[in-house]
Amino acid sequence: MNMQTLAEKISAGVFNDILQRDFSQDMISELEQMNAVQLEHKLKDMLEVPISISKQRVFEYLQLYYSASWQNLFTELNMPRALSLLEVGAGDVIYIPKAVDAYSHEAGSYVTANLNRDLTHNFQEKTKGMDVSIRVVEDDAANIGLYYPESSFDVVAFHHAINDIIQTIIAVREGMDTVNQDWWTIEPLMLQAVMDYHRKGTLKDAAYQAFIQIIDTSCKQLKSGGYMIFDNITYAGYDEMGYSSEFHNDYIQLARNWISEANLGLEEIEVDSYDKQWWMIWRKV
Ligand SMILES: C[S@@+](CC[C@H](N)C(=O)[O-])C[C@H]1O[C@@H](n2cnc3c(N)ncnc32)[C@H](O)[C@@H]1O
Repeated sequence: MNMQTLAEKISAGVFNDILQRDFSQDMISELEQMNAVQLEHKLKDMLEVPISISKQRVFEYLQLYYSASWQNLFTELNMPRALSLLEVGAGDVIYIPKAVDAYSHEAGSYVTANLNRDLTHNFQEKTKGMDVSIRVVEDDAANIGLYYPESSFDVVAFHHAINDIIQTIIAVREGMDTVNQDWWTIEPLMLQAVMDYHRKGTLKDAAYQAFIQIIDTSCKQLKSGGYMIFDNITYAGYDEMGYSSEFHNDYIQLARNWISEANLGLEEIEVDSYDKQWWMIWRKV
């Protein structure tokens, strides 16, 4: 969602529920002191790409931005109150569970297919006590059909996950264990491996089939008329690791090209105020 719309909706109280349930009193007071225009400037400053994680309260602003943007999308797309959502590769990030929790409360159900063990453990700790029902399937998202029948979900969510999926595909080819090792220790190696494939022009040959298998399986898991939703984000510091921000900024477009080429019975739709560089929304026809 663009920052002007988000700021206006926060000022109008649309996300009071999220704020009261999940944010510190200091953060709420900081937000209350700003009018919509000041808030828009603040959001733009905090979340300007590439996002610097050293700014004070940046994680609270990120959580606000993503939980509010996803909750708003559920409303815009007229999703049922008893929303059933599958997230691919949540890691230990809980923006989407928070959005489903705020939208559906105990009527909702949230599942993530998540491979890395330590991140799954953190995720389970962080989501304890939410109203919405939460399940982690510790398996490759390509295998989700072993756990759920077709047409089980209203939404399949990929929050900043195209990169994680492609990194994992390449890492496995390169003999890395992405399940049992500490994700953040191996991340620089994964990023450099992706860059090597990209620079040699072999990334598509190496990753397309496995990526599209996940998208195809996710599509089968969607109810007819359901949505597959992607977002992307670029953090500061990638280039110093031998990775490319420019390449990362373009991940949505890369996935858009691959998904279009695969012709899976999905149609891309546009939602006002969701920038197509950072968001991509497909509807199952
Ligand atoms: C660093 S976390 C990222 C969390 C979140 N997507 C974000 O960026 O905010 C990456 C997670 O995605 C998982 N992952 C990558 N490919 C996957 C796949 N094909 N199936 C299930 N999990 C996957 C990894 O194992 C890891 O737990």
